[in-house]
Amino acid sequence: MSRAYLESIARKYIDEALIHEKAGNLTEAAKAYRKAARILLTIVSNNPSDPLSSMYREIAESLKKKADALEKRLEGETKIAVRSGEEDDYERVAKEFVLEEKPPVTFDDIVGLEEAKQTLFDCIVYPSKRPDLFPLGWPRGILLYGPPGCGKTMLAAAVANEIECVFMQVDAANIMSKWLGDAEKRVAAIFRYARRRSAEERKPVVIFMDEADALLGVYEHELGGEARVRNQFLKEMDGLVNKGRDVMVYVIAATNKPWRLDMGFLRRFQRRVYVPPPNLEARKMLFEHYTKCIRLAPDVDFDELARATEGFSASDIRDVVMEAYLITVRELFKSGRLDDEPRPVTMSDFKRVLARKRPSITPEMVRLYEEWSKRFGSTM
Ligand SMILES: Nc1ncnc2c1ncn2[C@@H]1O[C@H](COP(=O)(O)OP(=O)(O)O)[C@@H](O)[C@H]1O
Ligand SMILES: [Mg+2]
Repeated sequence: MSRAYLESIARKYIDEALIHEKAGNLTEAAKAYRKAARILLTIVSNNPSDPLSSMYREIAESLKKKADALEKRLEGETKIAVRSGEEDDYERVAKEFVLEEKPPVTFDDIVGLEEAKQTLFDCIVYPSKRPDLFPLGWPRGILLYGPPGCGKTMLAAAVANEIECVFMQVDAANIMSKWLGDAEKRVAAIFRYARRRSAEERKPVVIFMDEADALLGVYEHELGGEARVRNQFLKEMDGLVNKGRDVMVYVIAATNKPWRLDMGFLRRFQRRVYVPPPNLEARKMLFEHYTKCIRLAPDVDFDELARATEGFSASDIRDVVMEAYLITVRELFKSGRLDDEPRPVTMSDFKRVLARKRPSITPEMVRLYEEWSKRFGSTM
């Protein structure tokens, strides 16, 4: 079955889900979201090497989350908030943050960013494979910073796949939302669990904190909860540094807004890695990468596309390819020749898309990151 066909079915299920959700039919809505997610994942498994797969996977994940959320709502507020701090509970709380299925991203899926990749190998991959080669120890905290959509989350996921490890994902949304007052206990539970598993199983544990500024940034109007969470977190980080080498817990934090982080935080993240927007060469490689599984007309010129996309993030470039390809899919549907393949994508398709797309990274933003790097960036 063609990708376009499966996509249209998935879309039908999503429409169905939305209607059910509006009508208050949560069970049915959740079911329909899950069906849509399953179909998108089928597309992914039919085309495993297609770079666009990561996009389908992302959509599928968000649909599944949507279904989970609806089902939670169904369970209602009857669920009693966790009284963390109690012996049996901490493990249950912490387990919620373990990603059982690691996001299927490898270093080869990430275009460019050679320096950032090397740093992650030096700081995490090598020490976790051969700790004996690192008599002076290794950094426990690594901060990835840079503009949105350039690969920070992907890098963390790739680390998790490169080494055999337990991968825990902590972000502001999942730690602050449910049990507001207990957020700092959840932080403590997460670290305690990480230390225990690492020591018992002699396995690295990676705690990945996405959007770290939202969780640990300093804001003018704090409700009180944020400061407590931040302090707990810093305390736990100190605890890691003092642990011996049989505890391999790494914390990778990612942020688009490094200037929101205070010195207390930065001190615990000795390694700070800039994940820059793609330069000319990287943009060309991104176009090549994302069009690998798409038929292209001979007039498509990657050098010209790279030149025309200054300020575009990697994620913008992926979107450009997707939209250019969609033009051909749409044409196919309108022509009614549903069994045919779409025509090759041409340079003018790309130009049509680029004509109405703005770069998401401005020179001013780049300047801010570079200035911050000069002051706080580090290479140990
Ligand atoms: N360096 C890259 N190589 C290939 N694709 C990328 C790269 N950076 C970003 N992308 C694409 O953009 C999406 C978002 O990237 P992400 O890693 O979440 O960015 P960030 O965390 O820096 O905001 C990814 O899922 C991927 O499809
Ligand atoms: Mg991200």
